[in-house]
Amino acid sequence: MKVGEEIMSIHISNDERLFHIETKNSSYVFRVLENQQLQHLYYGKRIHVKENYGNLASYQTRGFEVAYTATEEQIQLSMIQNEYASYGKGDFRHPAYQVQDATGSRITELKYQGYTLSTGKKRLEILPSTFDDEGDRSEVLTITLKDDLIGLVVKLNYTVFPDQNVIVRNVEFINEGPSDLKLLKAMSLQLDLSDDEFDFIHFSGAWLRERQLYRTALRPGLQSIDSLRYSSSPQNNPFFMLSRKNTTEESGEVYGFNLVYSGNFQNSIEVDHFSTTRVLVGMNPVEFEYLLEPKKSFITPEAIMSYSAQGMNALSQQLAIFYREHLVNPRFAKRPRPIVLNSWETMYFNLTTDKVLELARCGQRLGVELFVLDDGWFGHREGDNSSLGDWTTDYRRLPKGISYIADEIHKMGMQFGLWFEPEMISIDSELYCTHPEWMISTPHRKPSVGRHQYVLDFTNQEVIDYLFEAISSIIQETKLEYIKWDYNRHITDAFTATLLPTKQMEFGHRYILGVYQLLERLTKAYPEVLFESCSSGGGRFDLGMMYYAPQAWTSDDTDPIERLKIQHGTSYGYSLSMMSAHVSASPNEQSGRRTSLDTRAAVAYFGVFGYELDVTALEAVEAEKVKEQIHFYKKYREVFQYGNFYRIRSPFEDDVVDWQVVSSDKSTSILLHTSLISHLNPGYSLVKFCGLDEDKRYTIAGMDEEFFGDELMNAGIKIIPEGAENGPVISTPEYQSHLLIVEEIKD
Ligand code: DGJ
Repeated sequence: MKVGEEIMSIHISNDERLFHIETKNSSYVFRVLENQQLQHLYYGKRIHVKENYGNLASYQTRGFEVAYTATEEQIQLSMIQNEYASYGKGDFRHPAYQVQDATGSRITELKYQGYTLSTGKKRLEILPSTFDDEGDRSEVLTITLKDDLIGLVVKLNYTVFPDQNVIVRNVEFINEGPSDLKLLKAMSLQLDLSDDEFDFIHFSGAWLRERQLYRTALRPGLQSIDSLRYSSSPQNNPFFMLSRKNTTEESGEVYGFNLVYSGNFQNSIEVDHFSTTRVLVGMNPVEFEYLLEPKKSFITPEAIMSYSAQGMNALSQQLAIFYREHLVNPRFAKRPRPIVLNSWETMYFNLTTDKVLELARCGQRLGVELFVLDDGWFGHREGDNSSLGDWTTDYRRLPKGISYIADEIHKMGMQFGLWFEPEMISIDSELYCTHPEWMISTPHRKPSVGRHQYVLDFTNQEVIDYLFEAISSIIQETKLEYIKWDYNRHITDAFTATLLPTKQMEFGHRYILGVYQLLERLTKAYPEVLFESCSSGGGRFDLGMMYYAPQAWTSDDTDPIERLKIQHGTSYGYSLSMMSAHVSASPNEQSGRRTSLDTRAAVAYFGVFGYELDVTALEAVEAEKVKEQIHFYKKYREVFQYGNFYRIRSPFEDDVVDWQVVSSDKSTSILLHTSLISHLNPGYSLVKFCGLDEDKRYTIAGMDEEFFGDELMNAGIKIIPEGAENGPVISTPEYQSHLLIVEEIKD
C-alpha cells in the first residue's frame, strides 16, 4: 500500500485502483472496476488497510438484470454498490446525477481518469463550506471521471477530517466538450451500503414544532426528506441518521449526514430488491436544471458524513467539535456568546424610544450583555404589512433615531443588536415604489403572499448591492454588534428577469447563492458583527446559514416544555452553541402553559441563553431570580456552550427528561432533570451521569457527600420525590426542573 509522504489518512493501492480513506474510527473504501467505473466497497468501523478486498469487491450477475454491454456481460450495475451512479446503463436505483447532452440523450458513462491528493481543505468560493485554515488537519482526495463522448468531466472530492470521523463530499461538473450540456441532477453524496438493517432517524416538524424525532426501520423502496420551499425549512431538516436497530445514545453504530446548504434539498434512502441501501444527499433535483456551456463548471454544495460505533451521543459530540473547528466562523466559533434581551415578545411593534431604553436599562441592571431591538424600528412599520426593504429609522416613532438608541445602550455598557429581514419586500414600502421589479413574481400572474410580504429577487446583483449599502449604513451608524437575520415566508412564483427562459430552472440555486453573497460581503466587511439566523424561529436551521451566522433562533415556541423536544431533536445534528434559547413570559403566549421561572431558565441554559421577557414588569423576587440566573449562566457559560452534551432521558420516549453538559476537562458538569407529567406516589428516579472522570471526586451542590465519578456514572443518584425526609429532597411534579451542579474536588 502506498502512503503518500504527508498523506496519512488516504491510502492508495500499488496498482492505484483501490482507495481507503481512514478516520480515527472509520474506514471508507472504494475501487476502480474493470470497466473503469467506480465500485463502493465499505463504509463503517475502521478496518485494516489492505492491497485489495477480493471478497467485498466480488459481484454476481442475475437473471432479469441488464449487462453493461454485450462485451461486458459480467457487469450488471444493479448488482454493484456504485460510488456515484448514473441512470440508464443498468442501475435502476435513483442516480446521483443526470446530464443531458446536446442530442437530448441522458446517457453518460463516467470512466476513471486519475486522482490527486492534497492537504488542507480550502473554502469554496461561492458556497458556504467546511475548511481547514491551518492546513494540517484534513486531507483531500479528488477522483476525476470522464465521459469521452460528450466531454463531461466529473470530479468527486473527498475531504477527510480524521479527528472527528468526518468525511466531506462534493462534486464538480466540468464541460470539456464542444456543446452545451444540461445538468438535471447533481447530488453531493452517494453512499451504497451493503445491507438494509438500519433505522432512518430524521427531524421533521413545522413552525413552532421544529425538529421532532422520527425513527423508523428501513423498508424496500424509497424514503426521503426534502424541501421544495427554497429554504431548508422547519418541515424537514437536512440532518439525518442511519443507525443499527439496537443503537442507543451510548452504544451501537450510527451514520450522520448533513448538507451545507440552505435551499431546496433532497436526502433519500432507497432499499433495493437485494436489500442494499442507497443514500443520496444533495440539492433537490425538482425545480433544478443548470446549463453547462463549454468550458464552464458547476460545483455542488458540500455534504457531511460521520460515523460512530459508540452510539448517537458520540456522533453528536464529534459533529459539535467538527462544526466548531471546521465550519463556523472562527472569530465566533469558540467565543462566549453574549446573554441577550430581545424586545419582540415584550413590545412587538409598539416601540417608543422611552420604552426601548427602559427595557434595556432594566436588562442591564439584571446583567444582560446584548440588547436586541427586534422588528418594528424601520420604515413606517407598525404591523407586519409594511416597510420591508426600507432599512432606515422610523423617525416618527423613534424621533432621535436608531443611532441615539444605540449610543444610549452602548453607554449602559451593553452591546446593541438589530433585527433585519433582508430578503423581503412589502408592497407598502418605498423600495417597492422605486423598484417593483425587484420583487419575485411571474409575468402576468398575481403573486402569492405570505405574512403580507413578498421576496426580493436575490439573483439580481442590484438587489444585493442595495441591501449591502443599506445594512452597512445602519451598522456604521449604530456601531452594531449583532444582527438577527430573519426570513418569514417561503418563495412562490419563482421567476426572474435576470435569466433567459432556458435558464429559469437555475433560479432556486442562484437565489441562495445571492443570499450567501450578501452574507459573505457583510461578514467580511463587519467581522465583529455576530449574526443570528432565524426563519419564523428555527425554519432555516442548517449548516449553510451556520457558516455565516454561528447561532440560530431555535423556535418561536418558547414554552420550555415544548422546547425540550425541539432542543433535544436539534441537538442530534447541531451543537448547543448554535441554539439560541430564551426565557419568555408565563403563561406562555403561544401555548398558554404556566411554568416556573426556574424551569424556563433551566431549559434555556442548554443553548445560547437570553430573555424574551418584559423584565420591567417583574416582581422584586422575580427580578432577583433573573439576576441570579444570569449570574449562574455567566459562571457556567463555557460548559453550556462548548462542553460535551449528553442526552440521558428523552422527551420523545419518557415523561422525564435528563440532559447533562460536561466541561472538556471533566471538572464541571450540570445535569437537568425535568418532569413532563406528575405521578402520585412515584418511586425513586435514578439518574446516571455520563462523561465524568471515573477516578475524580466530585461534589453536588446542596448535598454534603463526596462522590467518585464512577459512582455517579454507574450507581447514579436517586432523585427522591417531594416529601422525603432524607437525602436530596428533589421533587418531580409536573414541569418542575432541577439542576444538579457537579464540581470536581481539587485538593
Ligand atoms: C419571527 C421571529 O421568529 C420572531 O422572533 C420575531 O423576530 C418576528 N419574526 C418579528 O417579525
